[in-house]
Amino acid sequence: MTRDLMYKDEIQQLVAEAYLQLDDPDGFGTMFYAEEQLARLPDATRPWMLGVGNPVAYAELRPGEQVVDLGCGSGADVLLAAQEVGPSGQATGIDLLPEMVARARAAAAEAGTENVAFEQGEIEDLPLDDDRADVALSNGSINLCARKSRVLSEAYRVLRPGGRLTVADLTIREEELPSEVITHPSAWAG
Ligand SMILES: C[S@@+](CC[C@H](N)C(=O)[O-])C[C@H]1O[C@@H](n2cnc3c(N)ncnc32)[C@H](O)[C@@H]1O
Repeated sequence: MTRDLMYKDEIQQLVAEAYLQLDDPDGFGTMFYAEEQLARLPDATRPWMLGVGNPVAYAELRPGEQVVDLGCGSGADVLLAAQEVGPSGQATGIDLLPEMVARARAAAAEAGTENVAFEQGEIEDLPLDDDRADVALSNGSINLCARKSRVLSEAYRVLRPGGRLTVADLTIREEELPSEVITHPSAWAG
C-alpha cells in the first residue's frame, strides 16, 4: 500500500486544486470507450471524461442491479451504468468535489437519465448504507486517495454478498520511484 507521508486533508486539498484548475480538459478518457457508448452521453460530458479505462465494459451489468461509482467525476460511467441496469436498477456516483457532482447532475438532467443519484463525499468513507450495491465501479480515482485500503474496505462494506468490484486505475510499485517523487504533490494529484 502507498506510503502516505502526507495527511489525508492535505492530499484532498491538492487533488481539489488540481481538478478545480482544469478549465479546458481534453477528455482523454474517451479513448477507452466505443463510439456507441459515447453517443449515449451528452456532448458536454466528453471533455470531462478523465478516467484511465472503461470499467462499465467489464462489469457485466444486468437489468435491475444497483451500481455505485467511486470517484464518479462528471458522471459518464454512472450514466452508462444506469442505462445498462435499466429503470428497475440504479446507479449512484460519489465524488469529493461538489463541482464534479454538480457537473454529473447536469449531465444526467441533459441526458434525461432518472435512475441515477450523485452525492458529494469521500470514497474512503462512503455516505452509503452497508450491503446496498451489486456492483462497485471506479475509474481513475483510487490512486488519488491517501488510504487506498480504506476505499477497498468501503467498497466491500457497501457491496452485497456476491457483489462485484470493477476498477480501472493507475498502479505503481513503490520501489520503482524514489519517495521524493512518490510523495510530491504533483505526483499525488496528477
Ligand atoms: C481522474 S478523475 C476520474 C473521474 C471519473 N471517474 C472519470 O472516469 O471521468 C478522479 C476523480 O476522483 C475524485 N476524487 C479524488 N479523490 C477522491 C476522494 N478521496 N473521494 C472521492 N472522490 C475523489 C476527483 O474529484 C475526480 O473527480
